[in-house]
Amino acid sequence: MMGTMGKMAALVAEPSEDAFRKLFRFYRQSRPGTADLGEVIDFTRASPARDSGHKVFRSPLSVSLVSEQDTYRAGLQPVNKWKAYGLEGYPGYQRHWVKQCLKLYSRKPNVCNLDKHMVAEETQDLWGQSQELLRNKDVSKKRPRSLLEKLRWVTLGYHYNWDNKTYSADHYTPFPPDLAYLSKQVAAACGFQDFQAEAGILNYYRLDSTLGIHVDRSELDHTKPLLSFSFGQSAIFLLGGLKRDEAPTAMFMHSGDIMVMSGFSRLLNHAVPRVLPNFDGTSLPRCLEVPLPDSLPAGSVAEPCSVEDWQVCANYLQTARVNMTVRQVLATGRDWEEKEKETTSESSRHLDDKNHETKRPRMNPNS
Ligand code: OGA
Ligand code: MN
Repeated sequence: MMGTMGKMAALVAEPSEDAFRKLFRFYRQSRPGTADLGEVIDFTRASPARDSGHKVFRSPLSVSLVSEQDTYRAGLQPVNKWKAYGLEGYPGYQRHWVKQCLKLYSRKPNVCNLDKHMVAEETQDLWGQSQELLRNKDVSKKRPRSLLEKLRWVTLGYHYNWDNKTYSADHYTPFPPDLAYLSKQVAAACGFQDFQAEAGILNYYRLDSTLGIHVDRSELDHTKPLLSFSFGQSAIFLLGGLKRDEAPTAMFMHSGDIMVMSGFSRLLNHAVPRVLPNFDGTSLPRCLEVPLPDSLPAGSVAEPCSVEDWQVCANYLQTARVNMTVRQVLATGRDWEEKEKETTSESSRHLDDKNHETKRPRMNPNS
């Protein structure tokens, strides 16, 4: 605690800075294994809020609304085994979603950050062009970066327009049915039975990536939840208030965690100031090492990931975090007609890192 306070005091230097920005900078330069992380809530602990002074509430889930068979088919445990503040996906199945993010969802017609800088045929098959480099075991050695390692975001369904911060009716491609199914089960268990997965933003973080402070308000119906699934390396997630001058709460997001932002929390400021490398620098979270069950349920949307494919995914994830966010854009039963009335736009939402061009300069952590 003292260490943390001392560090924080050293960070007060910038007078006009809001409380959120201050903590963003603090966690961006935080050191794993030190007192820096003492106030970060860890949902995997018996008492997750141990040092943080925050109380974590277990909120009940609608166990009866989602059948055991439906959760099983989505690769999830029965709802009565979930913890509302952080879910454990069925371990073996996390591999399916990682593989989809890297191999399938990164393909056309989905849109990605590389499209702007490359011709269409070069971005046709990022996985195909990267697998040789990534399958090579020696990830620590200097080697050319694969396209997958340059991938920062992919959009699905109604494609988010980063320039005008809107979705539009005429830029839509089919939303992946397996991810829509997974999202439906999770939303239903949280009491949102008519949730429609209409847009997705997939974030591909390197160890030095950050996601800037933002509110997701571009969706037209804010009564619907926003679902966020995390895989690979852990991150510090900051959840703030409606205004930027409210200090945020820091919490870990580990592989397999699902964050649901709904109700009051749907329009709160949030950010990811830090991806945390494993202490030994190489290994993957244990939950990803668990092999698949021998038999999959009938009608399963999650498929086994082959040994060869997993080799590529595992090497990639040693230095990466993948986050899938799923959103309903339109109000149920409404159409795009209503859209014109919406005038508010989303605040800046940038995934930054040293190898990625940014619209706004990165702050120097030592300043
Ligand atoms: C987002 C987002 C958080 C995360 O994509 O809007 O807030 O955990 N992602 O990566
Ligand atoms: Mn967000």
